[in-house]
Amino acid sequence: MATIHFTDVTRIFSRDGKDFLSLDGINLTVQDREFVAVVGPSGCGKTTCMRMAAGLEFPTTGTVKVNDTIVTQPGPDRAVVFQQFALFPWKSVYENIDFGLRSKGLPQAERHQITTHYIGLMNLQGYESAYPHQLSGGMQQRVAIARAYALDPQVLLMDEPFGALDAQTRVVMQEELVKLARKNPRTVLFITHSVEEAVYLADRVVIMTSRPGKIKEILDVKSVRESQSWDAHSKIEDVMDLESFVHLRSRVWKSLREEHAGSDH
Ligand SMILES: Nc1ncnc2c1ncn2[C@@H]1O[C@H](COP(=O)(O)OP(=O)(O)O)[C@@H](O)[C@H]1O
Ligand SMILES: [Mg+2]
Repeated sequence: MATIHFTDVTRIFSRDGKDFLSLDGINLTVQDREFVAVVGPSGCGKTTCMRMAAGLEFPTTGTVKVNDTIVTQPGPDRAVVFQQFALFPWKSVYENIDFGLRSKGLPQAERHQITTHYIGLMNLQGYESAYPHQLSGGMQQRVAIARAYALDPQVLLMDEPFGALDAQTRVVMQEELVKLARKNPRTVLFITHSVEEAVYLADRVVIMTSRPGKIKEILDVKSVRESQSWDAHSKIEDVMDLESFVHLRSRVWKSLREEHAGSDH
């Protein structure tokens, strides 16, 4: 069981000696095993929200809780995948994925089975003993995602995890993530700048305003996805052709476009 609660969250930052409001009155609950995607203009505070759930950043006012506990630090119950790859440079691909499993105290045979499974899923076979600097950016990110999933955390926090991948790899990862997420649902907060990705992956899509970031609108995708049987299609392009998908995507686009028009960026 894991829920994430943002209650009346504001965040003030200062730059050049001046304070500015970055997040304003964020109220959001991510339900147990719900996949919530957040989209919004650049600089609206998406990463800040995720860092708060991770325990790496804190609200100026309001609270962020996981279950009933205020988040005060990072913890093994929450795995984080950042936009930038955060691998251990001195560990191989295999060791990077295995590392978290060791700290969970799993026996060697089980660790090996899990690590090998995710290496296969992320198409990293043959690179087990390679070091991060020997891999492309996309491959490094696949290792980071494998590492997060292998831990099987209650909460997954992902900040534009597919942003640095080439288009083809990105599609493979999105399809894999959908399979994983539907088969083995986890509580996920997923930030993306891709409207398609948000609508394809999420149960709900949160649309934020430009700075100061507020929640503008929340769209329920899950009920449409289930009633229109999106998951009967294994290919992302087939889902994206469905009328119900096109309709939701254009609703998100319109809402975001208003924000870009009003943005001072
Ligand atoms: N530690 C910080 N100090 C000062 N300003 C910050 C800090 N972290 C984020 N900001 C500012 O807060 C705003 C929101 O940032 P961020 O959460 O990264 O937005 P997003 O991920 O939506 O692009 C930006 O204007 C950013 O420059
Ligand atoms: Mg960001």
